[in-house]
Amino acid sequence: MMIILPLLLPIIFFLVYQRLRFRLPPGPRPWPIVGNLYDVKPVRFRCYTEWAQQYGPIISVWFGSVLNVVVSNSELARQVLKEKDQQLADRHRSRSAAKFSRDGQDLIWADYGPHYVKVRKVCTLELFTPKRLEALRPIREDEVSAMVESIFNDSTQHPDKIGKGLVLRSYLGAVAFNNITRLAFGKRFMNDEGVIDDQGKEFKAIVANGMKLGASLAMAEHIPWLRWFFPLEEEAFARHGERRDRLTRAIMEEHTAARLKTGGTKQHFVDALLTLQKQYDLSDDTVIGLLWDMITAGMDTTAISVEWAMAELIKNPRVQQKAQDELDRVIGCERVLTELDFSNLPYLQCVAKEALRLHPPTPLMLPHKANANVKVGGYDIPKGSNVHVNVWAVARDPAVWKDPLEFRPERFVEEDVDMKGHDYRLLPFGAGRRVCPGAQLGINLVTSMLGHLLHHFSWAPANGLTPEEIDMSENPGLVTYMKTPVQALPTPRLTPIMYKRIAVDM
Ligand code: HEM
Repeated sequence: MMIILPLLLPIIFFLVYQRLRFRLPPGPRPWPIVGNLYDVKPVRFRCYTEWAQQYGPIISVWFGSVLNVVVSNSELARQVLKEKDQQLADRHRSRSAAKFSRDGQDLIWADYGPHYVKVRKVCTLELFTPKRLEALRPIREDEVSAMVESIFNDSTQHPDKIGKGLVLRSYLGAVAFNNITRLAFGKRFMNDEGVIDDQGKEFKAIVANGMKLGASLAMAEHIPWLRWFFPLEEEAFARHGERRDRLTRAIMEEHTAARLKTGGTKQHFVDALLTLQKQYDLSDDTVIGLLWDMITAGMDTTAISVEWAMAELIKNPRVQQKAQDELDRVIGCERVLTELDFSNLPYLQCVAKEALRLHPPTPLMLPHKANANVKVGGYDIPKGSNVHVNVWAVARDPAVWKDPLEFRPERFVEEDVDMKGHDYRLLPFGAGRRVCPGAQLGINLVTSMLGHLLHHFSWAPANGLTPEEIDMSENPGLVTYMKTPVQALPTPRLTPIMYKRIAVDM
């Protein structure tokens, strides 16, 4: 106690000083040292929504001595993401995020400043341009058609699976994995039989190891003096970083060699970044960091969105039927859908949007951090605090949505609500300076996967469940998977020839 007390005193004084100096948002009473760490329930966005009902739409939640402000209505979301956007555009980096990103040398974990502005410009002007998205479309269509083929084969020819439910997540995850690795690294690590090669195995192992390392530090993360007792596994992080760099550099070298041989540049992000590296003065760490950002941000999010959407469509046969009627009318049964058909499929687009409203895969977005003292909703947010927008709660707020809990895509036929950061009621991709740069790509992939799944198959619950019995609860985590992976029974709707993969080599 004699040793700990002098260590604690400055923290206690700091907290009391903050309390007196600032008018902080209300919230659950914090305990000494741990704050509200033990009060927060695992599915955080639901817990924050309950607290918002008790304390109001802007609340304070203490993780140890770190203040987290959570806003839960569209007006406050507008203040955070538009009015005070610049002062609230830094990132909170956990110790592991700081290690992975080499202290924010990438995009996702970079603070708002000259480096961020430069890298964001590379994303906007070079990587996510409509031209490049269009050039990479064949990859997306190849992968979506490969998913259709493997669902068809498994559900009609696989003795163990005929007439049984398929775990949709594994098919959706394969599309997301292959799409993002091809787009970023220009490589399909998986062969036609679904077997992953050695480089792909190494890639998956690195992703899994990153998750393990990132998840292992929770408590010491929020209580600075505890870190002395729980030092970061420096060596494990260093090994992880080296392993990631080794694989990425090997792929980068393959691309450089191919470019020198053919004289042509391909459309994949790795080629784009290598050819632009000098022009934008990007370090190797930034190039590698950016490539891995795409994997981190773009892989799970798309698969999760489609899994939730499919669960809703199985629970709501009326909506499923209506989307299929539209597909039959516009596409017919002689050809498969392509992204060029989207503009003629307004109901399908509304289905995707309604799924992202009710089930945003990142319900608290990514944490922003205040780089100055700011006022939001009449309360103070001191510099250094984290700010979260509970986009899940905003999208279910009965004050701005009619029958908010109902899965009813028609609401967007009646009113065309933007979901890419211009309407603060619907923010699955965030808004403002840090809005998701991959939003259009994500929307295209989600819509295409849904369109194909619905055009090619009818879907019913598996294992004798009724639609009402499908478990719609969430798993805890920064990205929100369904707690129970949805299982579904597909019935083909088209002739067998329509289920062949449309493979492209690029
Ligand atoms: C349905 C799919 C997706 C959803 C719902 C989604 C959502 C989000 C959200 C909420 C943020 C945080 C915004 C903020 O901090 O204010 C974000 C950031 C980001 N997303 Fe996405 N995303 C999706 C797909 C993608 C894809 C496909 C990519 C790239 C291939 C991508 C790349 C990024 C990057 C790099 C950031 C960091 C931006 C920054 O910090 O400036 N996302 N995304």
